[in-house]
Formats: sequence, structure tokens, C-alpha cells
Amino acid sequence: MASSMKILAGNSNHMLAESIAAYVGEPLTKCQVRRFADMEIFVEIQENVRGKDAFVIQSTSYPTNDHLMELLIMTDALRRSSARRITAVVPYFGYARQDRKPGPRTPISAKLVANLITRSGVDRVLTVDLHAGQIQGFFDIPTDNLYGAPVMVRDIKERMDLSNVMVVSPDVGGVVRARALAKRIDAPLAIVDKRRERAGESEVMNIIGDVTGKSCILVDDIIDSGGTLCNAAEALLAKGAKDVYAYITHGVLSGGAVARVAASKLKELVLTDTIQPTEAVRVAKNIRVISIAPLIGEAIQRTAREESVSSLFD
Ligand code: R5P
Repeated sequence: MASSMKILAGNSNHMLAESIAAYVGEPLTKCQVRRFADMEIFVEIQENVRGKDAFVIQSTSYPTNDHLMELLIMTDALRRSSARRITAVVPYFGYARQDRKPGPRTPISAKLVANLITRSGVDRVLTVDLHAGQIQGFFDIPTDNLYGAPVMVRDIKERMDLSNVMVVSPDVGGVVRARALAKRIDAPLAIVDKRRERAGESEVMNIIGDVTGKSCILVDDIIDSGGTLCNAAEALLAKGAKDVYAYITHGVLSGGAVARVAASKLKELVLTDTIQPTEAVRVAKNIRVISIAPLIGEAIQRTAREESVSSLFD
């Protein structure tokens, strides 16, 4: 019997899409997502999707606007081809850091993007480690926000001596996320507290917690310029930490971030593949990528079978 499921991939992360499709045991649906000469996006789904349960895998990573637009246009094509249900699988949800007004006359772009995705015809969203959990509420459709932590915890348990580990939040804003991971491996928690005592003076890094002799694991959702992590690693080593690792869900790694990490005191940066690793990431000596594909694949299968996905959060 023909499967009722269709998995489609935009251009943002083909490697992850292939791995997810392999886990689920379904081939990727033939689909062209290409550009006209003027760079407008054109999509052609080359298989029948009428009545199907469609999953579109697309991270809204760099180039964010192109990848977002691809997702919207693929959704429109599926809707007009009579797909029964469309799930946007957005392993990395870009624009998430603009989730509130930082000042007067500024946008809340995360909400705008959620509206765009919903209005394009998506029925549900599946994502990983939203920058802020409450962004789930920006979508007025069912939204599952998977946690990367179980994948990281498995890797940490395989590789590290847990008796000497200290989980560290690189800033006060990330304490909830870091504490949750610390709890899963029964490790203590430290916090890097950045303060600018007076305007014009440089930031001082205070470490809350005794990291002396500890193998520190910095935990965060995003590494972008790398500044937060590299500075935190320096501060921890200056306070006597034995070595510093980092586990980050989304490797945004803009500009010279990979070179910065390579030149930093981080012993190892472990990323998931929500964003497709560049060649520079793949060859970097102190960066390793672990795959989130089984987690997403499992969530897709359970969604298709109308089964609970909540145990994936444990
Ligand atoms: C901030 O709230 C995020 O959780 C990350 O800490 C931040 O995006 C990292 O940025 P960067 O690598 O540029 O310091």
C-alpha cells in the first residue's frame, strides 16, 4: 500500500533531510526548488501529494530570508496540490531572537514570521530548541518544540567523566536551559554573570560557582559570532577550570565565528545539525557535529501515526 506520508526538503539542510528520511524509511519526495534568473523562487513538486500527510524540512537559517520564502512557497505548492496536512519541520527557527520589542518603534519579527508560516497554509510546526519557549505561542496552530538536550546528554555520558563535570550557563538568560541539562546528568551548575559596572567600562565576567579543577560544559541554544562562548571559556579557565567544552543546538556561526572558535580556548564545541554544517565547520579541529535526525524522525513518525510525542521531551 502506498504510504500516506510525504517528506520534502527545501535547500537549507539537505543532509539532515536525507538522514531524517532514512530514519523514517521514506524517500524524499521529488521536488524542485530553484531560482528564476531574477532570483525569484520556483517550486515544482514532482509526485502526487493529494490527500497526503506532508512534512517540509526547512531550517530558516542563513540566508534566512531565502530559506523562509522557500518554505512559504513549498507550503503554497502543497496546499494547491491538495495535501491533506502540512507540517513545517523547522529544525532551526530563525528570527527567534527578535521575540520582543527592545525599544520603541521596533518589530517583533519572530511573531511576524510565525504569522507568515501559518498564513501560508501550514497546519502544524515541529521545531527544536526555540530561543524562547513562549515563541510556541506565537503560532496559533499546534507546535511541538523538541529539546536537543537528550541527544547532547547521550553524547556527554558516552565521552565524559561525569563525576568531575560542571554545567555552565554562559549568561544569566540561559540558566533555565543549562539547569535542565545539569539535572539530566546530575551535575552542579555554574553561571557566567556579565556585568558592566559603569557606562564606558568593559564588561566584567563573574563566575557564580566554584569551577576549580572542573571540566566545564557550556550550554546554549545558539552560537552566532562565538563571542559569548569564547569569552566565557576564557573566564572559566581564568578561575581554575580544568578544561571547557560547549554543547550548542544551533550553529549559526556568522562571519569569522568558526575561526574564532578554532583559535579559542574551547577544547571542543559540539553542535547539532539543525543548521547544515559548512565545510569550515566540518574541518575545524575543535568542532564536532552530532545529529538530531533520529529525534526529528521519531517525532515525524509519531505525528503521522497520531501518537504522543511528549516522551521525546524526557
Ligand atoms: C542569546 O540570547 C543566545 O542564547 C546566544 O547566547 C547568543 O545568540 C550567542 O551569540 P554570540 O555567539 O554572537 O555571542
